Amino acid sequence: MDWGLRNRLSRIIVPDTGRSVMLAVDHGYFLGPTSRLEVPRKTIMPLAPYADSIMLTRGVLRSSIDPSICNSVVLRVSGGTSIVGEDLSNEGIITSVEDALRLNASGIALSIFVGSKHERQTLLALSELVNEGTKHGMPVLAVTAVGKELGKKDSRYMALACRIAAEIGANIVKTYYCDDFDKVVESCPVPIVVAGGTKVSEKDALELTYNSIKSGAAGVDMGRNIWQSDHPIPMIKAVRKIVHEDAKPKEAYELFKKLAKEK
Ligand code: 5RP
Repeated sequence: MDWGLRNRLSRIIVPDTGRSVMLAVDHGYFLGPTSRLEVPRKTIMPLAPYADSIMLTRGVLRSSIDPSICNSVVLRVSGGTSIVGEDLSNEGIITSVEDALRLNASGIALSIFVGSKHERQTLLALSELVNEGTKHGMPVLAVTAVGKELGKKDSRYMALACRIAAEIGANIVKTYYCDDFDKVVESCPVPIVVAGGTKVSEKDALELTYNSIKSGAAGVDMGRNIWQSDHPIPMIKAVRKIVHEDAKPKEAYELFKKLAKEK
């Protein structure tokens, strides 16, 4: 692995702990103005100082994020579909590696849809991105999409999708927590970060964070369970406590409640 790629990776996964709290705010790329992310700047800027990395599209980066923020950025570069369109799996690459370099991204991300009609198309897009990324020292994060039409959200399916992403050359894999998650992590030779999924209680989201880390994940790439909380800053701080300080969920939840009250 060359120096540039390793340097960029270390801006996503913090070398001190080998872990990462990524803030996912890319939802608009197919969902439009998602609840509590209607005005991207308002949601993202106050949270940015607490995230190791922010995952978003180039449009939101350019329009809504101050270039002076010191966090690293992972650019979502796949898209071309919408929630009202016909098939969410029919994605392609929408942003070039050159543009990602110009925007000083530390990584680029795309979704793969294993088990869907467009499985081959999305896996070949991943391979193209890895080929291009490698040329420029740009790490690639593969998101294993989930959905009704795809395989069951169980460890066999997740392990299959994560392993394929790693075999094609993804440097980091983003996936969803499931039972026997340690088996998913074990059989994936690159770091895994866990998505938060749909909004649940803060207590449950912290439990999910803890279980993911305990199973060997390198961190979270969490969106809705942070910024759809009534107390997003206390929530991201509580998530950090687990990811970077190995706190138990109870301790992190106590911290969340204390900070939420102070506010
Ligand atoms: C979809 C995505 C999302 O846009 C997002 O990053 C997921 O984050 P969360 O589930 O924590 O809201 O990657 O595949």
